[in-house]
Amino acid sequence: MSAHSRIPFVCGNWKLHHGREATGAQVRELVAGLPALRDRARIAVAPVVTCLAVAVEAAAGKLPIAAQNVHFAEKGAFTGEWSVGHLKELGVSYVIVGHSERRALFADNDETVAKKVRAVLDGGLLPIACIGETESQRENGKTKHVVTEEIEAILAAVRPDEADRLTLAYEPVWAIGTGKNASAQQAQEVHALIRSLLKKHFGTKAEVVCIQYGGSVKPDNVAILMAEPDVDGALVGGASLEAKSLLAIAQNAIR
Ligand code: PGA
Repeated sequence: MSAHSRIPFVCGNWKLHHGREATGAQVRELVAGLPALRDRARIAVAPVVTCLAVAVEAAAGKLPIAAQNVHFAEKGAFTGEWSVGHLKELGVSYVIVGHSERRALFADNDETVAKKVRAVLDGGLLPIACIGETESQRENGKTKHVVTEEIEAILAAVRPDEADRLTLAYEPVWAIGTGKNASAQQAQEVHALIRSLLKKHFGTKAEVVCIQYGGSVKPDNVAILMAEPDVDGALVGGASLEAKSLLAIAQNAIR
């Protein structure tokens, strides 16, 4: 399988934006825009947890809905959390795991991220597992080391026969919400490293894993990133809030 046979996969991460009304309206607009992509790009969207049910209903089975987080336990004394089972009963398909904001602000770490990825797979949902270095880590030449550690922790939780259910998102922290995206070359350098780690773990199955890039992706910079052989899609924050913009990103991601 070559890069060009991996269908571009774009996921909108709505973070703490859009209430029920806007969620429903934006999801309906996304669904209406799907035919124009002619199955040459895939889209998913991750609303606020309280809007997941509205999103699933508006998607009417045509657009997969993602959660932004999950707890790894099935149940227990975890006030304020929800499980994979809860997401499953809502009809959610994907779960973003280990986003840098969760790692920085809500104590996610390599261990909990691995447990969450395992729980998502065990529950029959699809993880989008995030990794990426901070600005100071990059400046100190630690990018390769940080990304390798984060990826190895995730891969230790995934069996080779599950490779096709895994999506990874490389999001350099310094590029998130800053308007300062990584250059195509910077992204490819890390994506190639990730692919090589995938090969060690999965063998030839490494080629089926979608590796998204995230960090200030917009309609006008996605094509140049997608031209790189190991960039297979995008995890998009700010530019995903308007359906038109997310659809334009998906359209421009088509190779
Ligand atoms: P951004 O966010 O596109 O607004 O930079 C990306 C993300 O956090 O997933």
